[in-house]
Amino acid sequence: MEIRAVRGMHDLYGEELALWQWTENELRKVLSSFGFKEIRTPVLEQLSVFKETVGDETDIVEKQMYTIEKESETLVLRPEGTSGFIRAVLEHQLHRLPGTQRYYYYQPMFRHERPQKGRLRQFFQVGAEIINDSSPEADAELIALLDAIYKHFQITEYKVCINSVGCKDCRPQYKEKLKDYFRPHLASLCELCQKRFERSPLRILDCKRESCKALAEKAPVITNSLCSVCQGHHSKVRSRLKDAKVDFIDDPSIVRGLDYYSRTAFEFTSVLLGAQSALGGGGRYDELSTRFGAEPLPAVGFGLGMERLVMVLQEMKKHTPPKETPFVFLAPLGVEAFNHLFSIGIELKRVGISNEMVYDAEKGLKALLKAANRVEAAYAIVLGDDELKSGQFLLKDMKAGTQESLKLSHIKEELLGRRQRAS
Ligand code: HAM
Repeated sequence: MEIRAVRGMHDLYGEELALWQWTENELRKVLSSFGFKEIRTPVLEQLSVFKETVGDETDIVEKQMYTIEKESETLVLRPEGTSGFIRAVLEHQLHRLPGTQRYYYYQPMFRHERPQKGRLRQFFQVGAEIINDSSPEADAELIALLDAIYKHFQITEYKVCINSVGCKDCRPQYKEKLKDYFRPHLASLCELCQKRFERSPLRILDCKRESCKALAEKAPVITNSLCSVCQGHHSKVRSRLKDAKVDFIDDPSIVRGLDYYSRTAFEFTSVLLGAQSALGGGGRYDELSTRFGAEPLPAVGFGLGMERLVMVLQEMKKHTPPKETPFVFLAPLGVEAFNHLFSIGIELKRVGISNEMVYDAEKGLKALLKAANRVEAAYAIVLGDDELKSGQFLLKDMKAGTQESLKLSHIKEELLGRRQRAS
């Protein structure tokens, strides 16, 4: 049997995991200062949760979902967070709670895509969603939050691209305009875009093929075809972003690869990422709830790719999370000292003093101090027969190279005091 993880899915450990954990903590701080509360949903959902919301003709639903057939149910490993989030909101009636509500999640997503740098089959997303608020200010707040996240990490090399994809009233007319534009050029479009032409012509604007891109550049832009309500919403989002001092670019090619958006759509991209340049993206999706048979529910959100954020941080080499090293290394000389230190070690752990010990009573002092240095302990406790007789222990400061003889009966208080002084 070949021992390896599933293609496109990674193990995390060591220094890389330390950077992830530090990043996660920092993210939670920013999210909480913007007033977002965590929500967790199951990794498996019914197929219908995504099929009718993300859209039948999107890449995600057409070819990227991991499905499991079980007892006549078809379950899906979630490919994105928003649909499951709205399913949970409706199921628990969270939208009936008064006022604007802000939620975030930090969860793995699964898409059967062709793996490459920054594109995985299991990847982690931090998503933030605001419900019960149809104001353009909510859209601007979310974009400002995503911007604040990257600024928090001192990332400067990214662009904020925004657009409006209209609503169910004005988008159909725009679709017709687009089709009129592309119809004479159908033969020059790639095979996929020829398929998209009838039902999802907006997705042609998003195609990365050079021939399609060249045509899309001259296509009519949606912002010229918005109804007055969408137009008003869009211009308010833009002016609120200026108020919030978020630099942005108007980009009519932002249509997003999921079907549920209306009005605001946005993407943050970075040249530091290479081909998979999207750091994060999102938009407004007031109609998504109707695909579950519910009333329209004002909602706006974004998803941020964790792997891509961590990749940028690694590239910047600016953030080195503190190394976790034991405070004390226990060095017993002989069996009796070993027995004493074993129980002392557990007791110290109980009161929050991290410590390590080699479970081998035969080791000599030289080998033990070498081990203490290797694990980068701040102190080493040396206990031998002489110390035991006199009720003392030796406390070695590993950095300073100094040592003191202290009372064994005060070992806990002594170390607690030193740890307090060190922090
Ligand atoms: P999305 O644009 O599909 O949106 O994904 C959001 C982010 O997840 C991307 O910008 C990217 O950073 C990351 N990402 C996507 N696919 C992969 C992959 N295969 N490997 C690594 N990272 C990836 C959504 O999923 C929406 N649910 C966002 C949203 C929330 N809209 C409203 N609320």
